[in-house]
Amino acid sequence: MNNLKIIFFSITLTFLLACNTTPESNEIKVDELIMSKVDSLLKLMSLEEKVGQLSQRFSAGLDNKLSDDIKNGQVGSLLNGRKNFYTVKERNKIQKIAIEETRLGIPIIFGHDVIHGFRTIFPISLAQSCTWSPKLIERANSVAASEAAANGVDWAFAPMVDVSRDPRWGRIAESYGEDTYLNAIFSKAAVNGFQGKDVSSEGKVIACLKHFVGYGAATGGRDYQYTEISDRTMHEVYLPSFEAGVNAGALTVMSAFNDINGVPATANKKYIRKTLKEKMNFNGFVVSDWDAVEELIKHGIASDKREAALLAINAGVDMEMKTLTYQKLTEEVKANNLSENIIDEAVGRILFVKYKKGLFKNPYTSLTNVDKANPTLEKRKLARQIASESMVLLKNKENILPLKNKKINIAVVGLFANETNVMGWWQSLGKNEEVVTPYSGLKNNADSNITITKEVNSKTDVIIACVGESSTLFGENHSRTNIKLPNNQEAFLNKLKKKGKPIITVVFNGRPLDLTGVLESSEAVLIGWHPGIETGNALADLIYGKSNPSGKLTTSFPKSVGQIPVYYNQRNSGRPHQSNYRDETSKPLFPFGFGLSYSNFEYDNLIVSKEKLNRKDSLVISAQITNNSNVQGTEIVQLYVQDIVGSTTRPVKELKGFRKITLAPNESKVVNFTLKTNDLTVLNDNFIPIIEPGKFNVWISTNSDKGLKGSFEIEK
Ligand code: GLC
Repeated sequence: MNNLKIIFFSITLTFLLACNTTPESNEIKVDELIMSKVDSLLKLMSLEEKVGQLSQRFSAGLDNKLSDDIKNGQVGSLLNGRKNFYTVKERNKIQKIAIEETRLGIPIIFGHDVIHGFRTIFPISLAQSCTWSPKLIERANSVAASEAAANGVDWAFAPMVDVSRDPRWGRIAESYGEDTYLNAIFSKAAVNGFQGKDVSSEGKVIACLKHFVGYGAATGGRDYQYTEISDRTMHEVYLPSFEAGVNAGALTVMSAFNDINGVPATANKKYIRKTLKEKMNFNGFVVSDWDAVEELIKHGIASDKREAALLAINAGVDMEMKTLTYQKLTEEVKANNLSENIIDEAVGRILFVKYKKGLFKNPYTSLTNVDKANPTLEKRKLARQIASESMVLLKNKENILPLKNKKINIAVVGLFANETNVMGWWQSLGKNEEVVTPYSGLKNNADSNITITKEVNSKTDVIIACVGESSTLFGENHSRTNIKLPNNQEAFLNKLKKKGKPIITVVFNGRPLDLTGVLESSEAVLIGWHPGIETGNALADLIYGKSNPSGKLTTSFPKSVGQIPVYYNQRNSGRPHQSNYRDETSKPLFPFGFGLSYSNFEYDNLIVSKEKLNRKDSLVISAQITNNSNVQGTEIVQLYVQDIVGSTTRPVKELKGFRKITLAPNESKVVNFTLKTNDLTVLNDNFIPIIEPGKFNVWISTNSDKGLKGSFEIEK
């Protein structure tokens, strides 16, 4: 039966594809065909088999219990750990049980956290976002997908697209930063990288937008905690990155741990069913986060596992990760406490995704590709490029950097000088021994003029101090109240300073840090983040001037933890001139969009093409950027807008565009941004975007704190 159906499916699909239809209509036809397959399969399934599809089980390996549960049709999906995954042989052996030893042979979908690489580990997502390059993010995730797929992963629990504005929160490291506009752009790029145009083709994996929704707003920056988010803020700040990912075709979404205004995300029908499934027209499936369904009991909204399961399935959570409360749904349907239609909808979505992934046609992973899934020179080259474009130069006193064209003796010291654990919290199958450490990178890439030592000595001309946070000081459940360098590293820098040599401090961090002390001790400060496998080579490229820093912050760096929350696009108060603390200003140490270069970029001649726009109109804002230096450089030119008066109060500034441009020495380029009135909408009380007349300020700038300013008006 099963094989016959596959043959029928393939013939029909081939016929359809032969028709000269457009890709979009082709996609629709394929989906319609899949839906008809899903419907016919659903009709064959018993209630128990349907409920079995709703469980994602955690299992380190295949044991008798798992084997029996698979044979009983109780396992729809599997995951097996943060830093490990089944071998292809083991994965196929497990799959074979599902295909050959169950009544309907429905394949299992295998999931894994492929957050910023699988074997070739790229910089952490917060670092990648500082490249401001959707293309690089797409390429990194495409490589990650190909490696993961070759190793039997069907489904990556990524991208994490939670807007994150609290450096105390450890998972800010996994995010694309504090800005909604950037998060939405990178969400789309990451989904395209993972799924490609056809997710059933080789080397692609199902993407998973997480964590739905508002997880980054955890109270006190403490992971898993309560969030208080107004509907307006939810729609203006936290939902757009999910909508962008859904529109890019993401086939799964993961419900979050946090409580949203009294209704936990995993029991939140309003946001899952109404907003995600209906308003955003999401046709994939929703999986809960780890244990999050059963944790509804701890949240205090379910009295037992049965209630937790009913709340989550009715809210629209189609698959339960790890806990087994959904096994109770069979009795609930039989007792008429739950409509079987709800089960059918959940199973239908899961089967739709399994068909889209091609798991019915190709349930097994080929053994021939596994070797291709290791780091290659070409993949390392990409990782090296992304790492160097993600690093952010915060200080470069008297242009001490780059160190080149001179005979020089460099001492490379600090906790991270020889550290291989610079792969972030989610390391997947990355291997420490494959990581190029800061010291080896600087040593191996040094030209004959440069001597590298591990200690400071009398011959030392410059010290490179490698400091930072270990990967167990950020990431999941690793929030901190103190966002200074840990392990007395500031004292270490102060002590180093007494040696009277210039210090270049490189920070390997996972979050915005309070660097006030570090700045005082250092002639130069470079944010390295956790750059992954090519750490040392990327660092050397920047230090020796082989590449010119271009990274720009996507999160504000506070002067102190007391300033949090501090992010650029806040709303005004009625007394904007009185927004400071008694003991501190309200301005961050480094603003969103900040990053220095070895070049010196000058902004001139802002032109706003028209002063007044009608409601369906557009205008062009341009400025001339000049590289006033003798070294080629890349500048991320940013466009900010302020809607001065709205039907609700508006942020003091909003990023509405950016261009990453490379200029030769003394080259000038006019950068144009086209703004349409549709780019300037506000959400009305029903959260429908509307165009409101009124005055706007506009800036073209090198960061969010300054810029050439103009204005225009949308006429009544
Ligand atoms: C974790 C994380 C989630 C991850 C999942 C599976 O608790 O919250 O991001 O995908 O469990 O590892």
